[in-house]
Amino acid sequence: MQQLSQEVKFNKELIKKYDKPAPRYTSYPPATEFSSKINKTEYVKKIIQSNERKTPLSLYFHIPFCENACHFCGCNVIITRRKEVVEPYLQHLYREMDIYKTLIDTNNRKVAQLHWGGGTPNYLSDDQTVELFKQIKSRFEFEPKAEISIEIDPRHVDRERIFLLKDIGFNRVSFGIQDFNYKVQEAVNRIQPEEMIFDVMRWMREAGFESVNIDLIYGLPYQTLETFTDTIEKTIKLNPDRIAVFNFAYVPWLKRLQRNIDEKTLPPPEEKLKILQMTIEKLTKAGYVFIGMDHFAKPNDELAIAQRERTLHRNFQGYTTKADAELFGFGATSISMLYDGYVQNYKILRDYYETLEAGNLPIERGVYLNEDDIVRRDVIMRLMCHFRLVKSEIEEKFKIDFDRYFGYELEQLKEMENDGLLILYTDRIDVTPIGRLLIRNIASTFDIYLRNKKERRFSKAI
Ligand SMILES: C[S@@+](CC[C@H](N)C(=O)[O-])C[C@H]1O[C@@H](n2cnc3c(N)ncnc32)[C@H](O)[C@@H]1O
Repeated sequence: MQQLSQEVKFNKELIKKYDKPAPRYTSYPPATEFSSKINKTEYVKKIIQSNERKTPLSLYFHIPFCENACHFCGCNVIITRRKEVVEPYLQHLYREMDIYKTLIDTNNRKVAQLHWGGGTPNYLSDDQTVELFKQIKSRFEFEPKAEISIEIDPRHVDRERIFLLKDIGFNRVSFGIQDFNYKVQEAVNRIQPEEMIFDVMRWMREAGFESVNIDLIYGLPYQTLETFTDTIEKTIKLNPDRIAVFNFAYVPWLKRLQRNIDEKTLPPPEEKLKILQMTIEKLTKAGYVFIGMDHFAKPNDELAIAQRERTLHRNFQGYTTKADAELFGFGATSISMLYDGYVQNYKILRDYYETLEAGNLPIERGVYLNEDDIVRRDVIMRLMCHFRLVKSEIEEKFKIDFDRYFGYELEQLKEMENDGLLILYTDRIDVTPIGRLLIRNIASTFDIYLRNKKERRFSKAI
């Protein structure tokens, strides 16, 4: 089979026609299908069953605290400067680990991936950081080449902290820039001087992290093609291994903080399209591979290699190379993803604490997957990660006749084929370069839950 083309060509009309709100498919079924009515003892059974598969572990620790409110923020955060909130939170994380420790067969299941996200994991002091890491290590064994990563807010970190993180075992870092332009930074309440960003990057390189990722967002207030071109040029100079260029998910009906942003200051769709086109052109010209959706990586980065070798996977943290690991999320709002079920922890800190103090897993809601969900998840994930779906792979794995099972969906895809977003071969579906930008919308054809939904619950793809 020929390699897929890397070139992305734009067509405004097509993007306008297809760019409808759709899930980001970091899971299928998407989190909007989570219900508080799930049977929690069933989840414990699922963990025990998952031990039999001996799958490696991916651990996520959510540190929800932030010192300042970024007005664009769509994450689950608690804004406070009262640092005394941290200690009780850590104590509850340890309790949560203790409960999981009685359920997960840690002798046969090693950690392949550990990620601290937020909020702001560097909200913790040096001592708290060292202690949390130690507590995790005392309960779980790590694979020798485990990926150990942390999200950093560059405004609250110094050289010593970065070296400390490397010393205790982190080998990857991700840090948020969002935009280099002062007016944009001011409008989203996140001022980060350029000099500081370059200092932080230099320290990370000196400390010797294996991979440094940076986050940008396009679609923020006052951004124009000109200002974002400058941001991209500076980012290229910064020379990270991976770059995430997120589309601003503006959902003020869900996220109160975003109500501080005046919709009239957001770049119009035409301008966003130009920004996206420039971003892809400049980053690919600078040698980055467009992984898909919103990710770019250097060709020798594991993410780019995994995509070439078709082993790339997606979970709640986005693209990942650890396809077979099962994700256990610790902390308020964290999500765990087993093979056939996802659960999410309580959002409200008090509920999270009280459930743990009663000796129970702090689960608020979730969804268990049926056979059809599992087949559809596989199809959606292959499209999202590889832009190609080989029908025989699905047929062999699930013992189904692809064309018969997905007759309705294949019929629906014909219009997208006529418009050049994909090619329907007898043995496979290939997504074209223009189709890649609308991959969420293409994948949503296979989403049974989206079929009868009319509400505007998701952000647009572009
Ligand atoms: C958990 S957040 C914050 C990481 C770290 N605390 C920091 O501020 O640098 C991770 C990333 O999500 C992205 N993000 C947050 N809200 C977003 C939104 N509404 N739309 C798109 N991307 C968003 C930002 O790029 C951010 O860096």
